[in-house]
Amino acid sequence: MSVSHPFDVVILGSGAAGLSAALTLAPGLKVAVLAKGNLSSGSTAWAQGGIAAVLEPGDTFESHVEDTIEAGAGLNRRETVEFVVGNAPAAIERLAKLGVPFDRGEAARWHLTREGGHSHRRIVHVADATGWAVQQALEKAAADHPNITLIPDRVAIDLATSRHAASPGGPARVWGVYALNRESGSVELFTGRATILATGGASRAWLYSTNPKGSTGDGIAMAWRAGCRVANMEMNQFHPTCLHNHQVKNFLITEAMRGEGGRLKIPTTGRRFMKRFDPREELAPRDIVARAIDHELKRLGLDYVHLDISHRGRDFILDHFPTIAARLAEPDIGIDITRQPIPVVPAAHYTCGGVIVDLDGRTDVDGLYAAGEVTMSGLHGANRLASNSVLECLVFGVAAAEAINRSWGDLPPPPPVRPWDESRVTDSDEEVVVHHNWREIRRFMWDYVGIVRTTKRLERALHRVELLKRETEDYYGHFRVTADLIELRNLVMVSELIVRCALARKESRGLHYTLDYPETLAEAADTVLTPHG
Ligand code: FAD
Ligand code: SIN
Repeated sequence: MSVSHPFDVVILGSGAAGLSAALTLAPGLKVAVLAKGNLSSGSTAWAQGGIAAVLEPGDTFESHVEDTIEAGAGLNRRETVEFVVGNAPAAIERLAKLGVPFDRGEAARWHLTREGGHSHRRIVHVADATGWAVQQALEKAAADHPNITLIPDRVAIDLATSRHAASPGGPARVWGVYALNRESGSVELFTGRATILATGGASRAWLYSTNPKGSTGDGIAMAWRAGCRVANMEMNQFHPTCLHNHQVKNFLITEAMRGEGGRLKIPTTGRRFMKRFDPREELAPRDIVARAIDHELKRLGLDYVHLDISHRGRDFILDHFPTIAARLAEPDIGIDITRQPIPVVPAAHYTCGGVIVDLDGRTDVDGLYAAGEVTMSGLHGANRLASNSVLECLVFGVAAAEAINRSWGDLPPPPPVRPWDESRVTDSDEEVVVHHNWREIRRFMWDYVGIVRTTKRLERALHRVELLKRETEDYYGHFRVTADLIELRNLVMVSELIVRCALARKESRGLHYTLDYPETLAEAADTVLTPHG
C-alpha cells in the first residue's frame, strides 16, 4: 500500500538552501524537508573556507560585485550578482543570531579571511570547518520548529506533475515528489502547493571530486524531466587543491590556506610556479590555478604538486586550520602540515550551471522553485568566486520561500495524485550493471570532459553517455528502484547535459577551456538547453 503525505510545501534537500527556505516558510506553513541520507550529508556540512560578504569599512558592494563578475568571465547576470551581494550581510547576521560561532576579529567584529579572486578580505568563517557549524545551527533551528518535519532517508525519484494527477491533464504544474523510503523499500508520495528543489550539485559525475557521495545532480535531472530548462552545465568548477592520497580520495584543502600564504610548488624541485600563469599567483581565480596545476602535472609527468604553508609557523597554522591539520596527521595520511607540504591535485568541486531560476527562485514549471547549487541563477557565470555559494543558498533559500509566502493565496491546492506504480517491475537480478555503469561514467567524464577539453573527446563522451542512458533507462523500466539506481539514472542524465552544453559552446570562457576554440567570444551568452527542444 503506497503512503501519501500532504504538506503545504515540500522541500527536497536539507543543506543551507533547503533549511533557509524551511525556516522562512515555517511561521505560517507546514513544511516537509526531505534528505536522501542523514540530514547533514550534503555539501553544506563540508564547506571549509567560509562565506563571502562585505563586512568592514574599506570594502564595498561594488567591489564584491566586480570580483564576482571578473571570476565569472562576464557570463554572470548582473542583477543577480547585485541581489546576492546586497543581501549577504543580512544573511550572515541571521546565521550569527542562530548561534553560528564565526571567528572573532581584532579590529572588525569577525575575522575575515581571503580567497582567490577577492580583492578584499571578506570571508567570515568558523576556523576551517565553517559548513559544519552552519549546518548544525540551521538543523537545530529547523528541528525546534513545530511546523517543520525533517525527513531523512527519502530518495526523491521524480517530481509529481500534472501527468501524475488522478485525472491527468491541465496546465503543467508540480505537485510534489515521489521518494524511496530507504528503510521500508517502498515509494511514498509527498504533496504540496509548492515544491522547492535544494538538492545540491553534480560533481560526483567525475572520478575525483571533493564532494560527498550524494552530489549526483538529482534535482537537475528531475527538473529537466519535468520540463525545466537548464543552462551552463559545461561550467563545472575544479577546485585546485584536493588532497592526493590513494585511500582518502575526496578531502579538500581549503583555498583559505593559499589566502593565508600557502604556496604551490613542484615537488621535485621545491620551486613555485604560479607566477608564470598569473600575476596574482596563488590567489588567482580557481579556473586559472586549476589549469596551471593541470598544465604542470602533464608537462612534468607528475602525480601531484605541493601546497606548503609550513613557513607560517606552528601556532598560526593550528589556529587557522585545526581540522585539516588534525585529519592529515592521522595515521592513514601521516602529514604534519606545520613541517611538511601537502600533495594536492585539482578535483571536481562545484556545479555552476543548473536549473534556470529568476530572483524569486521560480523555475519554468509552475509550483516548482529551486535554490542553491542545483540552480543557474546567474550569480556565478562561467566560474564561481570562492565562498559565494553558501551565500547563494542563504539568499535564494529565503527569496524562494518569501515568493511562496507572498503568493500563497494564489497557489492551487494539489489535486489527487496517483500513487507510485510498481506493477510492471521486479527485483533486480543484475545489480552489477548499476555498479559498473557508475564507475564507467565517472571515469570517462574525468578522461574526456575534464579541465582541458577537445571536441573529439566530448564527442566520444557523448557517444558513451548515450549508450549508458539507453542501458540505464531499460534497467529502470524493468526493476524495482534502489538508491544506487536512482542516482545512476540522474548521473547519466546530468552527464549528458554537461557534454551537450560543452559541445554547444564554441569558445573558451571561465571553466570551459577547449583546445579547438581557445578564444573568448566578444559577447557572453548562456548555453541554454530546452527539454524536448
Ligand atoms: P547541499 O548542502 O549539497 O544539500 C543537498 C541536499 O539535498 C542534501 O540534504 C541531500 O540529502 C539532498 N538531496 C539530494 N538529492 C536528493 C534526492 N534525490 N532526494 C532527497 N534529497 C536529496 N562554498 C562556500 O561558499 N564556501 C566554502 O567554504 C565551501 N567549501 C566547500 C568545501 C567542500 C569540500 C565542498 C564539497 C563544497 C564547498 N562549498 C563551499 C560549496 C558549498 O558547500 C555548496 O555549494 C553548498 O553548500 C550547497 O548547498 P545546497 O543547500 O545547495 O546543497
Ligand atoms: C574552500 O574552502 O576552498 C572552498 C571554498 C569554496 O568552495 O567556496
